[in-house]
Amino acid sequence: MSSRITPAEHLKEVQNSFDDSMNPRLVEVLRAAVKHLHAFTAEVGLTHKEWFAGIDFLTQTGKMCDEVRQEFILLSDTLGVSMLLEMINYAASDGATEPTVFGPFHVDGAPNRKDGESIIDQIFPTDSPLAFSGTVNDLNGKPIAGASLDVWQVQSNGLYDVQQGASQRNLRGVFKTNADGSFTINTVRPIDYTIPDDGPVGKMLRASGRHQWRPAHIHMVVSADGFIPVITHLFDQASKYLDSDAVFGVRDSLIVDMSNGHCNYDFVLDSTRE
Ligand code: BEZ
Ligand code: FE
Repeated sequence: MSSRITPAEHLKEVQNSFDDSMNPRLVEVLRAAVKHLHAFTAEVGLTHKEWFAGIDFLTQTGKMCDEVRQEFILLSDTLGVSMLLEMINYAASDGATEPTVFGPFHVDGAPNRKDGESIIDQIFPTDSPLAFSGTVNDLNGKPIAGASLDVWQVQSNGLYDVQQGASQRNLRGVFKTNADGSFTINTVRPIDYTIPDDGPVGKMLRASGRHQWRPAHIHMVVSADGFIPVITHLFDQASKYLDSDAVFGVRDSLIVDMSNGHCNYDFVLDSTRE
């Protein structure tokens, strides 16, 4: 007499199908992926109609991607996965500057700038000047000379330069700290802005009653020889979106006062370990 296969037995059969692979990590990842996918499907009692709506959503997400637009990363950001990856993969000790999302608007090869130089290459009538200074130190408070700060930020029209054309460059620069670990960057005060919302991710946000705003911030990658680089932002404490960032990137330790035309922040890097 034949008995019906249960969902648990079905899952085992699918998981075991990967076992002939020569790549143990791939097997581990795929076994866990199908375990959670099957559990999700059963937990919500997914209907055929919903499954096909999900497939259509992912198809549209793929169609939205090109060299400059990566809708899948935007999906990962808005579902909190990008931030979770930072949390589980960033190996620095407590006391080091906290990381946050990288975002899609970094450009390799930003101009090298001298200490105190302005990163403003294009002026907008809405610009409000900001002098951003601080230091880069190790965990013992010792200044790191020659540390690199690669900074980029949104313009005061709410767009990154690259959103206006691939060859546009504004509000970017790579700075090196002085012998005492200090730096000064002249820029404009960042503003709150919306993530690209004209694709499936925007639809998902609207359908779920979420907004598409990011609180005003300046991006930076801070690095130095022998130290773990940190990808992070500084957020303007005046923003009204600090508690509802569309990509869940805000950390209390990264919020600074940008009023009165200046802000200050001391970055801390952890040294690399063997
Ligand atoms: C950004 O801060 O530039 C950003 C981060 C995640 C998604 C979209 C934009
Ligand atoms: Fe940004």
